[in-house]
Amino acid sequence: MKSFIKWFVTSLKNKSVKTKVLGITIGLVILMALTSTIILREILVVKLSEDLDRRAVSIASDLSARGTDYTLLKDIVSLNNLIQDTMSNNPDIEYIFIADENFNIVIHTFGSDFKVSEKLININLLDGNPEKYSHQLVTFQSEAGTIHDVISPMLEGEVGFVRVGLNEKQIYKTIDEITFIIIISTISVGFIGFMISFLLTKVMYRDLNHLINVTKKVGAGDLQCKVEINSKDEIGLLASEFDTMIKRLKYKNEENNKYLNVLKLRNSELSLLHQLAVSSVDLHNFNKHIESTAIRLMEELNLNSCFIELNLADERISTFKGRSNCAVGDNKACENCLFFRENNVLHDKQLYVPIKAKTEIGQINVCFGNKPDETTKKFIHSFSRQLSVIAENARLWKEVKYKEELRIKLLERVITAQEEERKRIARELHDETSQSITSIIVGLTLLEEQSVSEKMTQDIVDIKEVSQKTLDEIHYISWSLRPSVLDDLGLLPAIKKYVIEYMKKYDIDVDIQVIGFHQLRLLSIIEVTIYRVIQEALTNAARHAKAENISIILKHVNGIVSVIIEDDGVGFNAKKVLNGKLTKDHLGLKGMQERIESIGGNLIIESNEGIGTTIYVKDIVIGDETNG
Ligand SMILES: Nc1ncnc2c1ncn2[C@@H]1O[C@H](COP(=O)(O)OP(=O)(O)O)[C@@H](O)[C@H]1O
Ligand SMILES: [Mg+2]
Repeated sequence: MKSFIKWFVTSLKNKSVKTKVLGITIGLVILMALTSTIILREILVVKLSEDLDRRAVSIASDLSARGTDYTLLKDIVSLNNLIQDTMSNNPDIEYIFIADENFNIVIHTFGSDFKVSEKLININLLDGNPEKYSHQLVTFQSEAGTIHDVISPMLEGEVGFVRVGLNEKQIYKTIDEITFIIIISTISVGFIGFMISFLLTKVMYRDLNHLINVTKKVGAGDLQCKVEINSKDEIGLLASEFDTMIKRLKYKNEENNKYLNVLKLRNSELSLLHQLAVSSVDLHNFNKHIESTAIRLMEELNLNSCFIELNLADERISTFKGRSNCAVGDNKACENCLFFRENNVLHDKQLYVPIKAKTEIGQINVCFGNKPDETTKKFIHSFSRQLSVIAENARLWKEVKYKEELRIKLLERVITAQEEERKRIARELHDETSQSITSIIVGLTLLEEQSVSEKMTQDIVDIKEVSQKTLDEIHYISWSLRPSVLDDLGLLPAIKKYVIEYMKKYDIDVDIQVIGFHQLRLLSIIEVTIYRVIQEALTNAARHAKAENISIILKHVNGIVSVIIEDDGVGFNAKKVLNGKLTKDHLGLKGMQERIESIGGNLIIESNEGIGTTIYVKDIVIGDETNG
């Protein structure tokens, strides 16, 4: 039973509302018809049986009253007439028989050949006490059906007895007829009910179906569909609520789309500005960046044409991108966008924005597919401002670059002039001054030979000594100013020579390590620069550091030269010195830095007071190197 209910409930759940409604209607009609028929039949059986009993009693009493005389007179004909009369008026009478006081049958309705059986007579006998009862009712089963048998005594049984048997058959016939009518009317009512339910569910189902279809469409993202509201019942209410829901959803969707568009625009703006920012760093390819920016602008804002023009100090950058399907109609018109400005005519899909720095330095002239909204216009304006900043940056960068190039050129010239001057002084000292002092020494030697007194000889020897010292000093100075070995043999021999002289002079131990440098000759400017830096570093170590040991590493790897000079002296605050104001007294370190940078290298000084100083010369890319 449980599983049946479960099955019934699940199969009911899976059925459509239409089937459910129709099923329930038909089921209820059938159930009602069945129960009412059964109850009615039960009631009718009881009522009609009682009625049959009453009629049986009344017929028997009537016959006994009317038949008493005929029985006494033995008037069989009249009795027969009476019985036949009664029979014809009551079709459910199965039999009538009249017996005398001794229960001898006087007349009966079983036919002439038939004899009333003892058994039938004995079924209802008034218990041998006829004066006590007016009648007695007995119900029994016979082959013909259920019989309601009534015995009625005539003159308290002194004349005889009347027995009447009424068959229930007639009752059931009547009940069957009534049942038949009920069934027919039930079927008719059921059919009408079915038709009404069918039509009702059809109407209901049409609205529901419509709602289901709309729900499916909304589910698939179509918010344009309309909900029809055909009634004011629950389904109508549902439809109206659903309609409100779709409208809200549509509104929200539109809002979202609006925000999405703004976000998209912002995103494009950011990405474009980012692209511009990148281009501002890569100013070598500024033209290309402006061109790709114009293409991006076309894509992001769905432009028909885009013209960007920038007038930088010595350069004019202009780019034009256009699509064939211009807003105004054809190519020519799109090209016209560019010239509208000249005629001072702008159509409503065109936007001209000047790019201004201190003065107007360019323009953005765009032609939109659709009339642009305020956000888009603002975007173009902010884009133009950004472009002006970048253009200004580019201009400044070019200026700085130009000035830097100029400075380096000047520096090179100064260094070259300085070197030339040193060379000249060195040569002069060597060729002129040294020669003169040598002549003095030769003269003094001659004078010494001709000396007349010992004192004079001693004075001449003293002057010779001073002259010799001065000559040595001049030699050292001339060599320091520009050692010929640097020009003749190159950097490494020159440094080695310098170090030997230096150690002699200052009593400081200098260690030189050389990596990948043998026989390598570099550009004269590079050799001189490195030589001067080492010279300055060693001089500083001697003058300021109180160093005892110095190490020099000279390295050449893959066309890049680097030098490290390290001393174990007192150290100093390098940052302070390098970032401090330039004074004419302390130009050594700054000069070193400038010289190295002028040949494309980097100079880093690491020094801490009490620890020592390390100078790194890095990233010198050697150009036309020569070996040997
Ligand atoms: N190797 C060093 N050890 C200690 N102090 C140094 C060293 N090199 C430079 N200095 C400090 O830095 C200052 C600046 O040096 P420099 O620019 O060469 O100018 P100058 O040698 O003419 O003083 C020096 O006066 C000195 O105090
Ligand atoms: Mg110095």
